[in-house]
Amino acid sequence: MLILNAPEAEFKADDHAEGYEFNPNSDVVESIFKAGYHFRDLGTAQVRAISRAVREMAPDITAHLGSSWRVINVKSWSVRSDTVQQGPNAWHLDGFPVGTFKVMVYLTPIGKATGTTEIRLADDSTTILEGGSGTYLLFDPSVIWHRGVAPTEAATERTHIEITLMRSAATDLRYAHGGLNSAYPRLPWARRPIYPAD
Ligand SMILES: [Fe+2]
Repeated sequence: MLILNAPEAEFKADDHAEGYEFNPNSDVVESIFKAGYHFRDLGTAQVRAISRAVREMAPDITAHLGSSWRVINVKSWSVRSDTVQQGPNAWHLDGFPVGTFKVMVYLTPIGKATGTTEIRLADDSTTILEGGSGTYLLFDPSVIWHRGVAPTEAATERTHIEITLMRSAATDLRYAHGGLNSAYPRLPWARRPIYPAD
């Protein structure tokens, strides 16, 4: 509920932290993300809740990846029946570096009526994900074609958290957020600086 009730954050093309890859087509991304994508402004309470969820999912993620990993980005947004089928909701591959994965945590039930994610399998068949709230999907978004699917029901909103992670030499579950127009850090192996408070 913390995230479902979080205030909306306005998408701005220049919202990308230093060192992060971002989409440079500012006019295009702004017009798509302002056409029905509702980003959440994640404050301290939401970050804590997401960090707890990451800790809970961590053993499963490690088992599936068979390696250490680190969190490199977190975003949350929702779609409604009037959200354009462009951007994340058009068939695409993310084009992220090898070893980058995404965990989509659905906070609302997913299915045709309520909105979901559709993936295309190796034999070209497609399948939509179905499940209750709390369902999550770990996948390689640069290998598996996918798209978000807006709900068909007018009064429904599909909300999820998108956690981007990358294989790394040591597991690091710390929260990372590069801004709404960020994709991944260019130097994901770099340590993060820590400045002690004076
Ligand atoms: Fe994607």
